[in-house]
Amino acid sequence: MRILVTGGAGYIGSHTVVVLQDAGHEVVIVDDLSNSSASAVDRIAEIAGKVPELHQVDLCDRDALFEVFSRTRPEAIVHFAALKAVGESVAQPLRYYRNNLIGGLNLFEAMGEHDCRTLVFSSSCTVYGGAPALPLREGAPTWAVSPYGWTKVMLEQILTDLHAADGRWRIGSLRYFNPVGAHPSGRLGEDPRGMPNNLLPFITQVAVGRRERLTVFGADYPTPDGTCVRDYIHVVDLAEGHLAALRRLQDRGGYHTWNLGTGRGHSVLEVIAAFERATGIAVPYEVAGGRPGDIAASYADPSRANEELGWRSDTSLETICADAWRWQQANPDGYPN
Ligand code: UFG
Repeated sequence: MRILVTGGAGYIGSHTVVVLQDAGHEVVIVDDLSNSSASAVDRIAEIAGKVPELHQVDLCDRDALFEVFSRTRPEAIVHFAALKAVGESVAQPLRYYRNNLIGGLNLFEAMGEHDCRTLVFSSSCTVYGGAPALPLREGAPTWAVSPYGWTKVMLEQILTDLHAADGRWRIGSLRYFNPVGAHPSGRLGEDPRGMPNNLLPFITQVAVGRRERLTVFGADYPTPDGTCVRDYIHVVDLAEGHLAALRRLQDRGGYHTWNLGTGRGHSVLEVIAAFERATGIAVPYEVAGGRPGDIAASYADPSRANEELGWRSDTSLETICADAWRWQQANPDGYPN
């Protein structure tokens, strides 16, 4: 198939483009490069042996987006492109609602007008809100604690309504848990701009000497060691979930939500220990107060995705850390531009 991937130069997008190309699909990337690098596209080509077409377009630019659809005639869409920093979304709600909602609406309208109704959407476990019952199952009510989270809840609702109105749409909302790690080649990885918000990139930047020490946000949560528990999933496993979802949508259609997680939770201190075991490098850290908005624990029940997609993720935390470190060590300052 010819698959248009929005945000295909980004962290999860780039790994997914490699998986799609390896499966024989032709990929067109639409990315405004606001939080990604064109170098990632060169690296995709190097790994997969095929150069994906790149269109530097902002999804909020409706005319430019429609033009890409007219020119490339995609048969399916994987939609990653969005703003994703939780704290920033609290400070800049309108920017988040405009970008994520208008960008999404433009994309879905372009799809309808160009007779392309197969979509895999990047959702998030953030749609389970602030005090979930664990493990998280897809049937749980959805709500959010940040504008970022609400954009995911709202887009899932829009897609539910779209499928209800016209059963020709085939849609899978993938609720990611905590994507981490890097391509085992060390050529693709996470390259946050400025200070990393997320745990693993912060750890690897400490290990490579870009930051002095990690701050552990909170050690008095009601968890076994007091630090927050999350379901960390290797980004390549996550990428493979998109291919599995596309196959399922092609076979059976419908609107679906699928958790993409491992089903296991690990605390912040366990992640630090796994990184130290995998790399032999000590990670200095200090414990501070909890980060506003963080919940004590979050992990998936991934059985629906295991059963319906024939997909599972069980890459160990040590392998995840080794891969993240290989990327960071080979690219201490991230991508070259
Ligand atoms: N943490 C630290 N120090 C840091 C960074 C993170 O201790 O410097 C802790 C956090 O407090 C949390 C854990 O590490 O307990 C994981 O934090 P991340 O920021 O890596 O991940 P989150 O679970 O907070 O966020 C992720 C995604 C969001 C999504 C959210 C949904 O990054 O996009 O899950 O719950 F909204």
